[in-house]
Amino acid sequence: MTEIDTLTIHRPDDWHVHLRDGQMMEAVLPYTAQQFGRAIVMPNLVPPVMTAKAGAEYRDRINKALPSGSTFEPLMTAYLTDNTDPADLEAGFKDGIFTAAKLYPAGATTNSDSGVTNFANIHAVLDKMEELTMPLLVHGEVTDPSIDIFDREHVFIKRVMEPTLDRYQGLKVVFEHITTSAAVDFVRSQGPRVGATITVHHLMINRTDIFKGGIHPHLYCLPIAKREQHRLALREAATSGEAQFFLGTDTAPHAVNAKESACGCAGIFSALSAVELYAQVFDEEQALDQFEAFASLNGPAFYGLDPNADKVTLKREAWQVPDAIEVADGSTVQPFLAGETLNWKLV
Ligand code: NCD
Ligand code: ZN
Repeated sequence: MTEIDTLTIHRPDDWHVHLRDGQMMEAVLPYTAQQFGRAIVMPNLVPPVMTAKAGAEYRDRINKALPSGSTFEPLMTAYLTDNTDPADLEAGFKDGIFTAAKLYPAGATTNSDSGVTNFANIHAVLDKMEELTMPLLVHGEVTDPSIDIFDREHVFIKRVMEPTLDRYQGLKVVFEHITTSAAVDFVRSQGPRVGATITVHHLMINRTDIFKGGIHPHLYCLPIAKREQHRLALREAATSGEAQFFLGTDTAPHAVNAKESACGCAGIFSALSAVELYAQVFDEEQALDQFEAFASLNGPAFYGLDPNADKVTLKREAWQVPDAIEVADGSTVQPFLAGETLNWKLV
């Protein structure tokens, strides 16, 4: 088989991004905007983006911070709480402010303390979303402290996903950043109204990597990476080209001193080289022919959008991921695989 050295595809989108705000946003946004046409922007700011008004204001701040000439389009999400007003959510969706709403079980991850404590509290919201066909994006981990951290996604499927999908037969759901073979099987079993994002770090690392030769805080994220068998199941799903699986980096920047700490926070900053990293995975799996479906076609189709009109080209070329990027407040952020050599480059 002849080796492919260049690949031209419709411009990808990132269906799960943390852009943060202020100086951190200014530092990380150019990387996402350079590679992707659009991105689903997560609402877990402090305080979270809970109303259509807050969503519109956050979108304005992102657009102002974009490099000049950028055509990147942020797609905003509402952060669901026990008190979300269905009427405000509906107005935000109909006005084109919100593309989707994000469900964080309270306490599941970074900045999720005001998330939903009990599904009984959001029945009216989910009824409304089902009626509007507004996608529900789910951080799929139980927060029960008695459940082992490596089992929290698997347990969430039985305890929450199944009953929710049963009750809301028309609700569109994205199972965000899936990390287990159980989630892959579950998504497949549900048919086209359920999609899943897959991060590049979950395609590249397993849980042993987090502890290889010592603890690696920059490989700590939630959901935490699982066993090798799960990484392989995710690679199989992503490279299958199947419509339910699409690109979502979950790039989640934190300052180095917040990661390298006695209680380091969860999140991997992969935006710097996201498209290249995914291309490398597809190349390793000899599945570059499926890359465009995963990166550029399946996501828009799920969200009812057209693919981006413009194209990007990747070429086989070795380059080194920088050790750090600078934030104007003096902090730095360490990119995923800092210092390592990648073998695909966006032209
Ligand atoms: C995310 C963050 O830092 O905002 N962290 C992470 O580990 N993925 C939150 C999230 O998506 O869980
Ligand atoms: Zn996330």
